[in-house]
Amino acid sequence: MPLVTPALTPDFDVHAADVAVAAAATAPAWVEVTWAGGGSSRYHHVWLRDNCPCPLCVHQVTKEQTFELGVDDEPQPVGVAVTDGGVAIDWADGHRSEYHPGWLWTLRYDPAPAGEPAPVAWDASTPGMPATFDGPAVLADDDALHDWLVALRHHGLTVLRDVPLDLDAVGRVAERIGPVRATNFGVLWDVRSEPEPITNANTSFALPPHVDLPTREYQPGLQLLHCIKNTCAGGDGRYLDGFRVAEILRDEEPGHFEVLTTVPCQWANRSKVTDHRWSAPAIGLDHAGQVREIRMGNWLRGPLAVEFDRVEVVYAATRAMAAVARREGMAIRLPLRPGDLVAFDNRRILHGRDAFDPDGGGTRLLRGCYGERDELRSRLRILDRERRRASTPMFVSPHVAESGRVR
Ligand code: OGA
Ligand code: ZN
Ligand code: ZN
Repeated sequence: MPLVTPALTPDFDVHAADVAVAAAATAPAWVEVTWAGGGSSRYHHVWLRDNCPCPLCVHQVTKEQTFELGVDDEPQPVGVAVTDGGVAIDWADGHRSEYHPGWLWTLRYDPAPAGEPAPVAWDASTPGMPATFDGPAVLADDDALHDWLVALRHHGLTVLRDVPLDLDAVGRVAERIGPVRATNFGVLWDVRSEPEPITNANTSFALPPHVDLPTREYQPGLQLLHCIKNTCAGGDGRYLDGFRVAEILRDEEPGHFEVLTTVPCQWANRSKVTDHRWSAPAIGLDHAGQVREIRMGNWLRGPLAVEFDRVEVVYAATRAMAAVARREGMAIRLPLRPGDLVAFDNRRILHGRDAFDPDGGGTRLLRGCYGERDELRSRLRILDRERRRASTPMFVSPHVAESGRVR
């Protein structure tokens, strides 16, 4: 049921134009909306007043709120009506709010629609890993970009093939997602064996399973490694799911899991010119107890400085975690050929490599950079928005269409 006079929405998103409100009834603290397609959703008065999309409440260019509820405000409707398939409310203070039905539908919280699916942890036996995509397609085409990012969000590990071999290509791929995160290694950096390395990564040694920069309060959420040249023997990559490591520890070693999730331990970059350090548990949980991030890296640990009585249990748990990460069947072996680009969630995936031989006349050069999970999620939402805009019937808030500020 298309709207006759489209209402505004307090965002730049696109919303379904084929949902409609059949009835709206007030209760003491909320409005109950009955959907024409069946079912109903309740919205609190305070929530509705807070989300009024009108030009007095929301700046129509920024779509950001200008109205702010006062501490004692108790918004009360004096009239609730269905208009153009949406809901109109007249408030006791004389203000009027009109809500677009598609917007109300998208934002319903009673019951809340299922959110993003939780990541499913994998190991080397999981079919289809690592998900592999065509680099030039990802650079040129938004549908290919979308498919790649869905896989990256879900599995945390992906490979692009045939990425151009210039030194900026990894940056161009990363910028398909969003801004690159600069660190003390620069914006784009090289991984190769150097006579005076500033990190163990720039030797030819094997690197045990690790994340990069656990030494930061906010460790980069994404990492991209692009193979430019590889004519050395050895150096195969090893990639495994740190969330799977955490799952195994939670199931098999609950005592260690408790230590790893609660005791902050020390992470430190050694450098002549920078001194990054942070203390955090090796396994970070979110408010719901789900694993959110992993910190691991043998050469990135600082000397332990925990309570005296905890030193031995922290060492035991740390070593148990490393042992699980090294178990047979956990890691995918990933030999890198020129043009391969590994993109992964740096707060989830543990990566490492075999030693390689730099003295046999060969060269091994990777170019890398970091990004953020936030940017991946934002880019995916925008790509989804564009897809919804292309499918009908969808509703675009009129001001958005006029201003063209859709991104
Ligand atoms: C790194 C790293 C992997 C590789 O530079 O931190 O993990 O294959 N490199 O060299
Ligand atoms: Zn308003
Ligand atoms: Zn690394």
